Amino acid sequence: MTSPRKILVTGGAGYIGSHTVQLLLEQGYDVAVVDNLSKGYRRNVPAGRLFAMNIADTKALTELMRQTRTEAVIHFAASIAVGESMREPETYFANNTCASLSLLTAMLRADVKHLVFSSTAAVYGNPHASPILESFPLQAVNPYGESKVMVETLLRWFGAIHHLTSVSLRYFNASGCDPQGRLGEEHEPETHLIPLLLRAVATGTPVTVFGGDYDTPDGTCIRDYIHVLDLAQAHILALEYLMQGGASDQFNVGTGTGHTVMEAIRAVEEVTAQKVPYVIGPRREGDPPALVASSDKLRSKLGWSPKYGDLRTIVEHAWNFARSKS
Ligand SMILES: NC(=O)c1ccc[n+]([C@@H]2O[C@H](COP(=O)([O-])OP(=O)(O)OC[C@H]3O[C@@H](n4cnc5c(N)ncnc54)[C@H](O)[C@@H]3O)[C@@H](O)[C@H]2O)c1
Repeated sequence: MTSPRKILVTGGAGYIGSHTVQLLLEQGYDVAVVDNLSKGYRRNVPAGRLFAMNIADTKALTELMRQTRTEAVIHFAASIAVGESMREPETYFANNTCASLSLLTAMLRADVKHLVFSSTAAVYGNPHASPILESFPLQAVNPYGESKVMVETLLRWFGAIHHLTSVSLRYFNASGCDPQGRLGEEHEPETHLIPLLLRAVATGTPVTVFGGDYDTPDGTCIRDYIHVLDLAQAHILALEYLMQGGASDQFNVGTGTGHTVMEAIRAVEEVTAQKVPYVIGPRREGDPPALVASSDKLRSKLGWSPKYGDLRTIVEHAWNFARSKS
């Protein structure tokens, strides 16, 4: 019997990272998690797998990768709030770009050759067409997106010079949670639509919809909601692709179907059987009217397809978790 592949997951105590760790363990991988718990939760990581460490600490990371005989890294650790990045760009370039450089340096020293990276649809800025193809220009409109473009640039050069192979997964709107409710989405502060709508239902405090006058069927923004477990599975497929000798590449991760904010509100109302209190506010600066992925490349090259593709299922899973917390 071959021994399980040894994977290091940065940011594995956070929302997407913890779901991916759970799926990796279920699929027989041996996982070590590095997280500084600045945003994540110790309870999200199975006992004995968490190393509370900042990825900016190159020396400690190098030693850990050597000790655990890491074969590949999945890199989620980052600061994630677009609005905050507009007020504090230095935090985003330090924690997302510079800390990723520290991780890459540690990988080099520990001779780890494969990385799956959490990129984002924010690398495309305000795209000129929809659906978005991976070949569209990278023109981020905020420091968060730019900090990820810069990591994709680092990866290109570490590939060309040090032969590190990587897959950058450009996620659209991650949402939903473990159907069994063991893990969920608990950002603080929360900026993502579905947990905010569920919170509005639970508290009765209206949620603000940013803009009702876009050129979309009902005037609200269109986004592509991807279930966190479908996202997690895309990471495992990318990992296997790299470990089997695949060349570096970039993939969108979305379903290819867009939903307006009003459609999300209706889905929440159906699932919870309650009204969502909301007010329509002004547009938020830098919000594109529609962000929908072309996921053709991910489907054809990595054989991915979503298991939880419809919005109602996503909302149901998120609602189960929200209820278990209240
Ligand atoms: N949530 C989304 O919809 C979305 C969309 C696109 C891209 N992403 C990307 O996915 C990744 C994960 O997002 P998430 O929603 O799970 O966020 P999250 O905040 O829940 O998880 C990030 C984790 O990284 C940890 N962390 C942050 N900086 C660290 C550091 N320097 N050293 C060690 N640990 C550190 C945090 O403690 C946290 O546990 C991020 O890279 C984010 O940019 C998320």
